[in-house]
Amino acid sequence: MANQNEKELAGRAAAELVESGNIVGLGTGSTAYFAVVALGDRVKSGLKIIGIPTSDGTAELARAVGIPLSTLDEHPEIDITIDGADEIDPQLRLIKGGGGALLREKIIATASKKMVVVADSSKVVTVLGRFPLPVEIIPFARAVLQRKIKALRANCSLRTRSDGAAFVTDEGHHILDCSFGKIADPPSLAQTLSNMPGVVEHGLFIGIAKVALVGNGSTVAEIRPASTRKRALAKRARPTRARQKQKLRKRRPS
Ligand code: 5RP
Repeated sequence: MANQNEKELAGRAAAELVESGNIVGLGTGSTAYFAVVALGDRVKSGLKIIGIPTSDGTAELARAVGIPLSTLDEHPEIDITIDGADEIDPQLRLIKGGGGALLREKIIATASKKMVVVADSSKVVTVLGRFPLPVEIIPFARAVLQRKIKALRANCSLRTRSDGAAFVTDEGHHILDCSFGKIADPPSLAQTLSNMPGVVEHGLFIGIAKVALVGNGSTVAEIRPASTRKRALAKRARPTRARQKQKLRKRRPS
């Protein structure tokens, strides 16, 4: 229950970042749900936005709450995308795809000027890998890819629906859920998976998200990648030329 509140807090906080006139990527999952509903409320109060949904399910929800929708063909550049995550590390690297929408989610996130992640506090980890990494594949390549990924020391299983049939993504692919344990080098694993013929996309989102809003108890914490935090601190520490001149002037005896 606590997680539900945290999800709602994060989703609602992210919806506040959207401005009138924005093209908005609408994420998938139980946390993105709250952002979409909050955006629907804002649209009812006059906010003018166009949503680009990351899944058929989100498109249905967005229509139900009154958000006008369009496509990437019409709007290939998105102002802001709000989406959930299954894991978030301190560098704002993510595992996504628990809801099976990782392919469209990655396309939309990388077409966005800003990706805002929304999550409850259980999603924050020090090292990615507790959550099995979803890998979207061409069905034809399943057995070959399962062997190859198992050779990377991962337990790898085909995602199935409750009736036992293979789960099929909105783009008609299958998903392998791959447990690697702690992923020591996410960029290297991402590259290895991308290089395998038959892998359509994987759920490692690296260098894509700009900020994460994480519900924590009754507050929302902001996570930014360590590199931008360092840049911001360095900027603050570095005196501007004007400030340097002012200091020199102050030191000069009159
Ligand atoms: C869907 C996703 C979701 O954003 C991710 O699974 C998080 O979902 P939730 O907010 O329900 O925990 O990647 O493909």
